[in-house]
Amino acid sequence: MESPRVIGHRGAAGHAPENTLESFRTAARLGATWVEFDVHLTSDKAPVLIHDDTLDRTTDSDGPVDSKSLADLYSIDAGSWFAKAFAGEPIPTLDATLRLLASLGLGANVEIKPSPGREAETGSVVARMLREQWPSVLPAPILSSFNTESLAAARDVAPHIARALLVSQPGKDWANSLQALDCNALHCGHRRLTARDAEQIRRAGYPLRIYTVNERARAEELFRWGAETIITDYPDRIL
Ligand code: G3P
Ligand code: MG
Repeated sequence: MESPRVIGHRGAAGHAPENTLESFRTAARLGATWVEFDVHLTSDKAPVLIHDDTLDRTTDSDGPVDSKSLADLYSIDAGSWFAKAFAGEPIPTLDATLRLLASLGLGANVEIKPSPGREAETGSVVARMLREQWPSVLPAPILSSFNTESLAAARDVAPHIARALLVSQPGKDWANSLQALDCNALHCGHRRLTARDAEQIRRAGYPLRIYTVNERARAEELFRWGAETIITDYPDRIL
């Protein structure tokens, strides 16, 4: 599978409230062809898009995401915190997101973000929905997670969907972890990544995808080091 060169992080999180439908529309308008987003489960097991385990930072509500039902989320505003112009932007369901991606022609890196204690369950629910509802007009999705239990559960439900392990820094064990989980890529933080790390990953034959890179000069350096994909809040700066 060929990697996309640029993936919009949480949509286009530099320009619109992260992980909202408006963020995906913005990413598409800026020329992105792929987006990344984060998926949590509600108390009633609905997959919804939000980064943090709680609602506090990115909505007008508060408390743990997994203490709310899907119905509880309908009245929550996930746009105003970013700018008043986005007031009323809802927390999207994964289901609604897939329909929008199909209409925009956007590929996706779906990050499984389990609340504590719901690691395997979140991996299974997300993978099952992608297996059953991924729009056939789109390129095949990439699942990723920092959580190995979530990735293992996703593999059990949908072994054919490509999986990537997320790490903030490649430690000693990344190659063993990729093998154990049948992952075919490493998604790596850029802050502490060295040219030597990049070379080792490439030599092992894995595509290197790097987050979250918002400066063009750093992106160019990482591409020189052999990165295949840059995940960015500002797809317009990197494209
Ligand atoms: O998937 C890349 C990146 O989103 C991982 O970190 O915390 O932004 O979800 P985070
Ligand atoms: Mg993410």
